Order: sequence, then structure tokens, then C-alpha cells
Amino acid sequence: MEFAQAPNLPRVTSGMKGLDIILGGGYPKERNILVAGPAGAGKSTIGLAFLVAGIIEQDEPGIYVSFDETLDNVRNDALSYGWDLKSLEDQNLLAMIDGFSPRAGISSDEKYVCSIEIDEMINLLINLIDSIGAERVVVDSITAIAVGIDDEVTQRKEILKLSAVMSALTCTTIMVSEMRTQDEVSTMGVEEFMTQGVITLRYQFGQSGRRSIQVRKMRGVKHSLKERPFLITDQGPQVYPDEELYEFKSN
Ligand SMILES: Nc1ncnc2c1ncn2[C@@H]1O[C@H](COP(=O)(O)OP(=O)(O)OP(=O)(O)O)[C@@H](O)[C@H]1O
Ligand SMILES: [Mg+2]
Repeated sequence: MEFAQAPNLPRVTSGMKGLDIILGGGYPKERNILVAGPAGAGKSTIGLAFLVAGIIEQDEPGIYVSFDETLDNVRNDALSYGWDLKSLEDQNLLAMIDGFSPRAGISSDEKYVCSIEIDEMINLLINLIDSIGAERVVVDSITAIAVGIDDEVTQRKEILKLSAVMSALTCTTIMVSEMRTQDEVSTMGVEEFMTQGVITLRYQFGQSGRRSIQVRKMRGVKHSLKERPFLITDQGPQVYPDEELYEFKSN
């Protein structure tokens, strides 16, 4: 499968060969991509795969901001794919920011901690991008940021501000967001429009539980709109760019 592409749009690997094929070479470099899906669909795994591949395959250090999970749980779960995040952190190739503990009201022993206050997170990100030379950032998740803000107008403003700042920085960024229903990508009404790319995940439970992935939007990129099979394996997430997704069974 080959698609014509916009010229002068450098690419970076997504960490999934199949998705790189669908996108004609990977995510557009230095852009913002939204990865949206329901609970357990594989959003965090896709974010981590992107960071690990950046470090190992493209010499691009990364930053992971976790609002949904303790960093120890993230590190531990990543071991199930053979990713030793601690060792990457020790080499200053990966910085992990604990955004969970302040939200949960618990103390943190982590090196980098931030609240859901956007300005605080942006300052920390800018400092870390500078100090470790990060070229990739994952914010997991922007839904958590929004949940911590009471009124919808401020929610949108803060999410838009984050997006604008990340667009201005020379980093490729993944923003993870939770989808409440299958078709509603923008829970806050703005996520889908403020990012340059949107990838959605689907997770069908039942007897033949099945995962799938779809590129809904990727500015400057000619890509397939077809939903494709997506699997989480011991080696991490895998996308099958040429395989059809058979109709989901209802049970
Ligand atoms: N080694 C593995 N092999 C196969 N599947 C795995 C493996 N490790 C984890 N999984 C699957 O991956 C899922 C977790 O995916 P992930 O945490 O990326 O989802 P998520 O969309 O971020 O979820 P949440 O909404 O809870 O944050 C697990 O629920 C499990 O089904
Ligand atoms: Mg997650």
C-alpha cells in the first residue's frame, strides 16, 4: 500500500510498523497527534511504544506525563512488553513526570512531579525538553486535566493552551484522550480540532474481543481511512495495515 505524501513533511516512527505503513512513513514530525479511545483500548501502550521507539530507533529522547497512573505502575506494566523504562530514565533518555500523586492527594518520591495546573506542567515540560533534549512528548491523559477543572470554558481554554504550546515547540506530541462513546472523539468539544492528527482505537468486548485502530485525520498526509486490526502482544502494540477488519460480533 503506497500513498502520495505532502513534500517537506519529515516523519518519525510511531513505534508500530503497521501504522507507519498506513501513514506512509510515520507520524509527521513535530506535530500534535490525539490518540483517543475507550478504557483499556491501548492508548497508554501506544504512547509508550512511540517514546521507546524514538529512543531506541531514532535517538530521540522523550517525556511521559502520567495523570492516570502512578509511575511505578506504568514502569511495571511496560515490563510486560519488555520495555525497561527505568534504565532509559537512568540514561537521561526518558523523563517521567508524576501528575498522578498530586491529583490523588498522595505524596510522591518521583524526581519530576506536577499538578494538573497547565502553566506548571508547561514550565516543567519546557525545562525538561531543554535539559534532556526531548523530541517526543506524551501527555496521558488530557481527559484527566479536564476532569480537574470545573467549568467547561476554562477546560477548553486550558486544553487549547496546552495544544498551542506543544505546537510551538519542536517536539512530536501525543495527547491521549478518553472516548466515552464510539463516535464522540471530542469529549470536551475541542480535542479533535486542536490537534493535527487524530487516531482512534476501538475495543469490542464479548466472546471474540477485538481491537482496532483508525486514522481519522492527519493533516498533510494521504492515508487510508480504513479501520484495521490492532493487537497488543508481549512485544507491544501491533497494527495490521493490509488486513481487513471483519464485522464486530455483537456478543
Ligand atoms: N503483554 C501483554 N500482551 C497482551 N495484552 C496485554 C499485555 N499487557 C497488557 N495487555 C493489554 O493491554 C491493556 C492495557 O492497555 P493500555 O493501558 O494501553 O490501555 P488504555 O487505553 O491506556 O487504558 P486506560 O483507559 O485504562 O488508561 C490491558 O488491559 C491488557 O488487555
Ligand atoms: Mg491508559
